[in-house]
Amino acid sequence: MPRPILATIHSAALRHNLARVRAGAPDARVWAIVKANAYGHGIERTYEALRAADGFAVLDLDEAERVRRLGWRGPVLLLEGVFELRDLELCSRLNLWHTVHCDEQIDMLAAHKSHAPQRVFLKLNSGMNRLGFAPERYRAAWARLNALPQVDEISLMTHFSDADGERGISSQMAVFASVTKDLPGERSLSNSAATLRHSVPGSDWIRPGIAVYGSAPDFPQHRASDWGLQPAMTLASKIIATQDLMPGDSVGYGSTFVAERALRIGVVACGYADGYPRVCPSGTPVLVNGIRTRTVGRVSMDMLAVDLTELPESGFDSEVTLWGHAANGALLGIDEVAHSAGTLGYELMCALAQRVPVAVQD
Ligand SMILES: Cc1ncc(COP(=O)(O)O)c(C=O)c1O
Repeated sequence: MPRPILATIHSAALRHNLARVRAGAPDARVWAIVKANAYGHGIERTYEALRAADGFAVLDLDEAERVRRLGWRGPVLLLEGVFELRDLELCSRLNLWHTVHCDEQIDMLAAHKSHAPQRVFLKLNSGMNRLGFAPERYRAAWARLNALPQVDEISLMTHFSDADGERGISSQMAVFASVTKDLPGERSLSNSAATLRHSVPGSDWIRPGIAVYGSAPDFPQHRASDWGLQPAMTLASKIIATQDLMPGDSVGYGSTFVAERALRIGVVACGYADGYPRVCPSGTPVLVNGIRTRTVGRVSMDMLAVDLTELPESGFDSEVTLWGHAANGALLGIDEVAHSAGTLGYELMCALAQRVPVAVQD
């Protein structure tokens, strides 16, 4: 018997979410962002549902090759571009589009013995200070690229640091508009939060990631359902033991939880080695047979404990939903669990461990 833990990827939710973000920018084409192995959902597992996108945006050549191996002939974009000269060979061979964010990448293009000229996305650092040319150097980078026979089309790109928060996008938009004024080429600006929360004029390609996977980019201000998004991942397991506690009894390593009254707890086959955050404190929400209860005590490597005191029907073999859908239709948002851990849904989905078996369901 395999251990009873299972992650389920919901293809219908992926299709729905993709349509939802498309509706948020109806004139734009959509990159499905499938970096980090499709945010932990699996490139191969999500491909059929996401092939309604206009292109796939990936982190590196390995992910790009995987997308091509699945049969995708449309656009594929390397979000960080190439890391060394010989990467450009594969870009030619696989017909990849790539981000150019620094002079060294232009040097590599200039040194590349080109087959066919390549399409690049020239990245502007409009304020995030991660990747991209500074505003005062952007047009010179454009001119340099434009003079290279190795390059055909140049698209213009930036990334927002605060689309999900109070600062918003206006100052970065102003920088982008002034620096790129009159430059030809398609524009790509919006991530999920910008697509859902802001109107971004003149956007040819949007780059939604998290929303496609059914998590809110701005939780707790908004829940996924507020944005009409559906969770694309469920993590479920079962209770493999129960314990009856007397007042004063503790639970788990470090005895961080001490019962104040008699309690019945269930031990769940899920721990931090499965990707469930160890930092989730007692009180983190969890569903048992689709009914909301709480975790108690520290999460250990392979197990965690939940309070069953108010759930007398539950016991050995009961269904536990760590996040996502329960069999009775109840839902526990990954964002809520992430919030309890002091992090974001992004991190939890990306951290789903390799050892967890995964099913794909429509
Ligand atoms: C350049 C770029 N574009 C788009 C995205 C997608 O962002 P989100 O998942 O917030 O929609 C990311 C993710 O980090 C990114 O780095």
